[in-house]
Amino acid sequence: MIKVGVDIVKIDRIENMIEKYGRRFLEKNFTSAEIDYCNSKAYPCQHFAGKFAAKEAVKKALLSLNPTLMVLMRNVEVKNGIDGIPCIELHGALKEICKDYCIEVSISHEKNGYAVAMAMVAI
Ligand SMILES: CC(C)(COP(=O)(O)OP(=O)(O)OC[C@H]1O[C@@H](n2cnc3c(N)ncnc32)[C@H](O)[C@@H]1OP(=O)(O)O)[C@@H](O)C(=O)NCCC(=O)NCCS
Repeated sequence: MIKVGVDIVKIDRIENMIEKYGRRFLEKNFTSAEIDYCNSKAYPCQHFAGKFAAKEAVKKALLSLNPTLMVLMRNVEVKNGIDGIPCIELHGALKEICKDYCIEVSISHEKNGYAVAMAMVAI
């Protein structure tokens, strides 16, 4: 069975949340590796927005497979390989529950615009 999820995030909205709530917002939603990755870029907010959209897209795909799952943003980590390709690592209870799932994600973002992501989960 295959399920998909998609999400779009306005980069300004993420920028405002970071300005308003700072580390509290970041640490609630992103792992320290994700924060380091985004902050290493020239314009971090577009990368934060991309990862945020990817987490929401994965969440939608997972919930359409299993609506009882508790999916916390921080427990869906978006990693980048040496080639830049994003991949998903789950943490917490999700890691065990979803251990046999194959998850793929794709992200795009436009500075001063939107970030979009789509995810696919197969079991
Ligand atoms: C990969 C590529 C298509 C990205 O296109 P873009 O218009 O610059 O960027 P977009 O905003 O659409 O997408 C950026 C996201 O694509 C993803 N991405 C990066 N490299 C990728 C790749 N090789 N394949 C798939 N997705 C990739 C990342 O998630 C990135 O966002 P993030 O860094 O915030 O996680 C473009 O850079 C390209 O054609 N590169 C040539 C291949 C290359 O340079 N490979 C590197 C070898 S080391």
